[in-house]
Amino acid sequence: MEIIREVNEMRNIIKLLKQGQKKIGFVPTMGFFHDGHLQLMKKAKKENDTVVSSVFVNPLQFGPNEDFDRYPRNEEEDIRKAEYVGVDFLFIPPLDEMYPQKMQITMTINDRIDVLCGKARPGHFDGVITVVTKLFHITQPDQVYFGMKDAQQVAVIDALIHNLNFSISLIGLPTVREEDGLAKSSRNVNLSKRERAQANWLFKALKHGHQLVVDGEFNPAIIIKEINNIISNNTDGKIDYIEVLSYPELKPVSDMNQQVIIALAVQFERARLIDNLLLNED
Ligand code: PAJ
Repeated sequence: MEIIREVNEMRNIIKLLKQGQKKIGFVPTMGFFHDGHLQLMKKAKKENDTVVSSVFVNPLQFGPNEDFDRYPRNEEEDIRKAEYVGVDFLFIPPLDEMYPQKMQITMTINDRIDVLCGKARPGHFDGVITVVTKLFHITQPDQVYFGMKDAQQVAVIDALIHNLNFSISLIGLPTVREEDGLAKSSRNVNLSKRERAQANWLFKALKHGHQLVVDGEFNPAIIIKEINNIISNNTDGKIDYIEVLSYPELKPVSDMNQQVIIALAVQFERARLIDNLLLNED
């Protein structure tokens, strides 16, 4: 595996790969790898000639009071893990390679963001589409791999690819979980022991919501209320949102005979966790 830190060097490598007609799979990340990241890389390895992954904690997608400064980092471990799963090129640009100057162009997404994290974290997805656009231009992938743990992010990237005519296939992969059901996340290390023990209730509550639908409950308000009760009764976390929406459009639903997402965010002392379940998946 080669480690690349400069945009120009990455570009030169991509140029050569393209000349050799190599199919490029790309996995953008912010590092501190866990099995969720590694599954994306493994899938990319199976489906492409060359796998490029990036590690870049993107300041543009963090709000002023968010956790940019204490976002967990461990470059040495990330390099070891990426090499182990067969990544060919790990792109780790320093901040001034990605943003050598203040951006003169800003990107704004105006659909699919009035709900969930888009609503709770204003500007977050503008930062995501900006950095992802830059990374797509630098790495010129044929296929990109994203986790459904961040389902709204997948919906936003889907819009980005179509709106801006990127010739890229978007592949969304299922959420990888701990044994007790907690969705793996780099931020889980910021949970206290007590919070970590409680955090599996998020997925339990989502599964209960799913069961309600299976049993014929089609009223989103009732599903949301029951999930809310389970989480408030079993955790110290503060519920940020619980929503039932169509997917990937992320619009209110009146019936459940379509692809529906139940998504939630819960703020613990030092970690904000998100999770979701997709119903009636294609
Ligand atoms: P990051 O949070 O590091 O996540 C990188 C990729 O890993 C994303 O596609 C995310 O959905 C996926 N992922 C995280 N946890 C997962 C899990 N438990 N199961 C499956 N996939 C999981 O998402 C970002 O970084 C950034 O916003 C980025 C796209 C890199 C732009 O800065």
